[in-house]
Amino acid sequence: MAHAYIHGTAAPEQERLARLNELTNAPFLEFLACRAGERVLEVGSGLGILAAQAAARAAPGMLVGLERAREQLAAARRLVASGRPRLYFCGGDARALPFAGGTFDLVYARYLLEHVADPAGALREMRRVLRAGGRLCVQENDNFALKFDPPCPRFARVWRRFCALQRRLGGDPAIGKKLFRLLRAAGFTRVAVSLQPETYAAGSAAFVPWVANFIALVRPVGGALAAAGLATAEEVEAGCRELERFLARPDATVIFYWNRACAQN
Ligand SMILES: C[S@@+](CC[C@H](N)C(=O)[O-])C[C@H]1O[C@@H](n2cnc3c(N)ncnc32)[C@H](O)[C@@H]1O
Repeated sequence: MAHAYIHGTAAPEQERLARLNELTNAPFLEFLACRAGERVLEVGSGLGILAAQAAARAAPGMLVGLERAREQLAAARRLVASGRPRLYFCGGDARALPFAGGTFDLVYARYLLEHVADPAGALREMRRVLRAGGRLCVQENDNFALKFDPPCPRFARVWRRFCALQRRLGGDPAIGKKLFRLLRAAGFTRVAVSLQPETYAAGSAAFVPWVANFIALVRPVGGALAAAGLATAEEVEAGCRELERFLARPDATVIFYWNRACAQN
């Protein structure tokens, strides 16, 4: 099947991605540790929300966000229109970056490699556009790390099918755990891997938006799951309803983590 982006770029998905940025940007910006004056590239910059925050930290340096989808690029450019000096967005593909070798001090990608049909090629491109000694930072998924207590078997089944669909579309829902191997194979040195936990119990501020993120990921993909013969509309809806009931429990816990890696060129 041709490569496609599983989440799409419809308005409700853009709202979900914006909420995910609210939940996950602060620790990621700490991890990035942009230095003043750096030339920075985000590959797969989506709505540009993270890029705008990173650009503020790299000032008076500059940040370029590269993005393949027209709709995301348009949203990011609306941010720039509200006046951000030295922040630029351009169209392009992670597998063929339109920059000369050695252009950037820091290249980063978040929630991108899981969608790229050739992640090894994309990482080689990221290394090519980094100057010697420049840094790479990535944060990715291992969707199989997701756990609920009490368990949500209907949702868990649909989640596995969602992951199967992502694979059929050319992505890799478990790429996070492979980062060390992939970065080394791409020629990076000093590769260091770590985890960013996202573990929330009922009553904590992030519990509801975090669990709601998974419902918002799966429900819109119901049609595609049915078309691919992976789950019926009823199964998808039953899984989402189960997670909605989970959301209302006073004793529930959700456990997840992001895989991270940083490295040097
Ligand atoms: C889940 S979003 C993450 C956006 C942003 N990095 C963030 O953390 O909010 C992934 C983005 O990667 C883009 N994308 C997917 N494949 C791409 C590719 N081959 N080249 C460039 N962008 C790509 C998608 O269009 C989408 O906007």
